[in-house]
Amino acid sequence: MSTPLPGFEDFEGPAGAEGPGRPGVSGGHGGSDRLDGAVDSGESGGRHSPADDQSPDRHDSRREIAPGAVHVPGWLTVAQQRELVTACRGWARGPAPIRHTRLPRGGVMSVQTVCIGWHWQPYAYTRTADDVNGARVAEFPVWMVDLGRRALVEAYQDSAAGDGYTPDTALINFYDDQAKLGMHQDKEERSGAPVVSLSIGDTCVFRFGNTETRTKPYTDIELASGDLFVFGGPSRFAYHGVPKVRPGTGDPASGLAGGRLNITMRVTGLDG
Ligand code: SIN
Ligand code: MN
Repeated sequence: MSTPLPGFEDFEGPAGAEGPGRPGVSGGHGGSDRLDGAVDSGESGGRHSPADDQSPDRHDSRREIAPGAVHVPGWLTVAQQRELVTACRGWARGPAPIRHTRLPRGGVMSVQTVCIGWHWQPYAYTRTADDVNGARVAEFPVWMVDLGRRALVEAYQDSAAGDGYTPDTALINFYDDQAKLGMHQDKEERSGAPVVSLSIGDTCVFRFGNTETRTKPYTDIELASGDLFVFGGPSRFAYHGVPKVRPGTGDPASGLAGGRLNITMRVTGLDG
């Protein structure tokens, strides 16, 4: 699709246009400003340099929104956000470029999406992006599996929470100022494993509801740049959505000049 992606694909990021396999995000461990050095324990200090973390205090305000649904503000450092933006920008270019997903009844989503590991289109996963250009989507990188495991450890404050967690797909959504996402369940996966959500760029209102209906009761929270949100257990199939993005609230140091990037890792439970 030829739609321009202001603030995302068209923006020249600080790390240049390196692709998703760039060495800075794969392998190794312990670097304070790298994705592979993300938070890995419940300790209250020294996890990463405060200089790298735009809001270390927010990080300590972990909150359970519903059973199994946890918000961890400020989990990613700014450097980690930049690395993720660089990786996502690479995937947005291909093999199957980012696009506004077409819905079966003719609508077009305002959010733009690119997938890795498996391609999601309403309402199924395939290895090839049949509603884009037919290309096989990019591999799900090992470093992102690792990041997902560390996210569960952090969210659930349990050193074993990431054991055996092997996400094999991620939907990468880009929201411009007007984009929204209606209330929905993530239910094409044949697995009850948690969804790990990472947000970068502009803050949004994230609406987290219940498993029965797309209406109340729900809780509105703000997801800001660097925030982690995990929903698993009894909340895994809760309805959720993004009614509003707050333009101009992101820090360009994240690598995004504008708009909001969200990555949701999932376990499809599919073979092949
Ligand atoms: C999603 O529901 O797939 C994305 C949620 C978000 O953008 O925070
Ligand atoms: Mn969802």
